[in-house]
Amino acid sequence: MANIRGWQGQRMPTSSWKVRISESQIEEISSIAEYCNKESIPPEEISSIAGSCGSLKSLACDITDRLKSGMGMVVVSGFPTAESSTLDFCEFRILCRLLGEPVGQNEIGDLYTRIEDTRSSSSRGYQSSVSLPWHVDPVDVVALLCVRPAQSGGTSRVASSKNIAEILSIEAPEAFSLLKNPFPAIFEPPREGNLGARLPIFIQSDNGNSLCWYTRQYINLSRILPGCRLSHRMISALDSLDEILERPGISLDFSLEPGDIQIMNNFSVLHTRSEFAENEMAKRLLVRSWISTSWSQQLPDNFLPFYGSVAAGSVRGGRPIARSSGRLGAKVTTPTFVNS
Ligand SMILES: [Fe+2]
Repeated sequence: MANIRGWQGQRMPTSSWKVRISESQIEEISSIAEYCNKESIPPEEISSIAGSCGSLKSLACDITDRLKSGMGMVVVSGFPTAESSTLDFCEFRILCRLLGEPVGQNEIGDLYTRIEDTRSSSSRGYQSSVSLPWHVDPVDVVALLCVRPAQSGGTSRVASSKNIAEILSIEAPEAFSLLKNPFPAIFEPPREGNLGARLPIFIQSDNGNSLCWYTRQYINLSRILPGCRLSHRMISALDSLDEILERPGISLDFSLEPGDIQIMNNFSVLHTRSEFAENEMAKRLLVRSWISTSWSQQLPDNFLPFYGSVAAGSVRGGRPIARSSGRLGAKVTTPTFVNS
C-alpha cells in the first residue's frame, strides 16, 4: 500500500477532492437498482453484477484509490437520492456495496441509517443538530449521502490525521509520544460487562503507514470504569490534538449539496460537522453507511473489543451488538463484474 500523504485543508483545491458521477455511471447504477427493486434483492447482498458496468467499476476503483493512498476522503457529486423506490436509497447502497461490506450501525444491525435531528433526549450525536466533537466512526470507511442540506450550518469538516501527527511531532513531541500509548475508551452507551478497551491514538502499522483512531467522547466516558483515570499529561496531550484540529486552515470545510456523497477512510482522516438550523418543511437528511473494506490494514490487538476483528481485510467494526450478522472476522468480499 502506498503511503497516505498528509495535507492541509486550505491548500486543497476542490478538484483534488470532489468528483462528479458521469451520465454513463448513473445509467449503469440505475440499471442495477432497477434489478434489485424488481427482484427485491437488498443492495448489501449483491455478490455479482452482470452486464456492462465498466464505467461504474472505474468509479469504485477511483474512490478506493483516493481512500487508500490519496487524501483518505472524497466527495462524489450528482448522485441519485430517490427515497420512494421499493428499496430506499438503492443507488447509494449499491455504491457502498461496491466499496466493501456494510456493517451494522445500531442495536438492530441496520446497514444504513438516516442522519437527522430526531429531537429525542435519548438520541445519539448524529440524531441531533448540535456541533459534534472531532472523531472517527468505528469502522474502516464511512459514506454519507446528502439528501437535503440544513437551512444553515451543518458544515462538514475533515482533517488529515497524518498532517496532525506531523505538526504534533514537531511542536509537542512529548504529547505525540504519549498519544502513541493506549488510552482507555468505552463505546457509548456504556453497557453492563463492557470493560472498554485501551487504544492508542496514533499507530505505526507494520508496513510503515501511520493510522489514527480518535474519539474523545469514548475516552472521556472511560472514567466510569473502575480504576480508569486520565493523568494531567494525558488530558493535556488530547487538548494539544484538539487545539491543532481547530487551527484555521488545518481542516477542509465544505457544505454538502443534495446528491453529494462524502466518503472517508476513518484511519487516515478525522471529521466533524458544525451545528445546524433547519427548515421545518424540508429537514436536513443524510444517509450513512459503515463499510468494511478488503484493503484494510491489520490493527493492534487492543482494537479487538471495539472492532470485533483486527485482521487486515476482514469484516469488522460497527456497533458491538448485532455486527454484520455472522460475517464478523470473515474476509471482505466485493461484487464481481461478469460480462454478459
Ligand atoms: Fe462521524
